[in-house]
Amino acid sequence: APHSHASHAPDSGTAPSSNAKTVSVADLTGPRAGTAERKFALTAQKATIRLPSGNTLEAWTFNGQYPGPELRLKQGELVEIVLENKDIADGVTIHWHGLNVPNAEDGVAGATQDAVLPGEKHVYRFRAEQAGTFWYHSHQQASVQVRKGLFGAMVIEPAANANASRSEPAIRDLALIHHKPKGEGPTLNGADMLAKQTVAPGTPVRLRFINAENLPVTYQLLGTSFQVSAIDGNEVNEPNLLANQALKLAAGGRYDVSFTMPNRPVLFTQATQGKNRGKGLLLSPDGGDALPNLQADLPLFDPARYGAPLPLPFDLATSYDREYVLLFDVAFGMYDGRIDGLWTINGEVFPDTPMMLVQEGDLVKMTFVNRSFMDHPMHLHGHHMLVLTRNGRQTTGSPWWTDTLNVAPGETYEVAFRAGNPGLWMDHCHNQDHAALGMSMHLLYE
Ligand code: C2O
Ligand code: CU
Repeated sequence: APHSHASHAPDSGTAPSSNAKTVSVADLTGPRAGTAERKFALTAQKATIRLPSGNTLEAWTFNGQYPGPELRLKQGELVEIVLENKDIADGVTIHWHGLNVPNAEDGVAGATQDAVLPGEKHVYRFRAEQAGTFWYHSHQQASVQVRKGLFGAMVIEPAANANASRSEPAIRDLALIHHKPKGEGPTLNGADMLAKQTVAPGTPVRLRFINAENLPVTYQLLGTSFQVSAIDGNEVNEPNLLANQALKLAAGGRYDVSFTMPNRPVLFTQATQGKNRGKGLLLSPDGGDALPNLQADLPLFDPARYGAPLPLPFDLATSYDREYVLLFDVAFGMYDGRIDGLWTINGEVFPDTPMMLVQEGDLVKMTFVNRSFMDHPMHLHGHHMLVLTRNGRQTTGSPWWTDTLNVAPGETYEVAFRAGNPGLWMDHCHNQDHAALGMSMHLLYE
């Protein structure tokens, strides 16, 4: 098989596909020595949060905040995060969603570490290799802990560009994380009403939209044309200008949206049938409260045909070292002593789901087939997947790299990745309720 691909981020591995390398502990952990250029301390603790609606939320938080603090750092930095658990009885971990960290830093309770119990600490160290929009969350009983608030945004800014002109206007760069606490309406950065910011016309704006919910969410950006400049932390090649398209984002996924602030208000909101549901962000050129015209349902942005193509490191013609077909379905059965709907992969529930075995350097193709009636946002840890086809049709446009791919009912996707990050990894549905009811599996390097 020809393995002479032009290499493009995020897969730039050139390991031979034939011989498995001996894996050492150093391959599985982040750098343990050396001074960290960026340090964060995150304490998991219960807190009563007052929402702007006036309701209170008995939350489980990082540092008493809902969502947890936004972590911002620069590409290339060695980062150290000290996790401390104050009073979350079942223990916590932190998973860096979308970052291809060494396996021991991946934060999966029961796979890469034990949950950190009350009074205990755990130190994560890794180099921030990828620039982009990510998020972090507990991966111990995630269906409960993320819902209760143990998550936050993580932004890795590109390493400073020496050629950047000093006269460029300062960018307004905002991470916006969508979530829905139990019994509450949806929130954006913890706010449940319209937040307002004054932005001078001509200012470049980048909104980093993160979905921390279990279901896909749809937002509209009104009052401006825009580009989708990154998907799941990967820059789009030559993103076209869009107008009047809605953004439907997979649970766990991220879209970065860019535009230049116009001379009129811009609204980022969940809106259906021309009704503003009151959740969102208003950017105003003059500090006023005027809203752009609300729209009825808009056509959806399609990442499968957006931007300009680039040479691919692998494609449909590649001969793959491993191919796995994963059928997603629902079944009814006993689980935890009660009859429940179970979410299955190839007819099994975790931990009986099939394991995907690979060797370092392998080119791996996965086919996802959704035979059920719900969306399954499939999240692969430690790797990025290149989407090859959707429902048999090849993707066109910019290479579509994803770490969390929404597979809608009836859909089939073919995706591929290079096995370049040894260890034991999760591949699971990011509807955390589905993952808790079976829809989870392992990827293991032999
Ligand atoms: Cu964002 Cu395994 O999770
Ligand atoms: Cu699912």
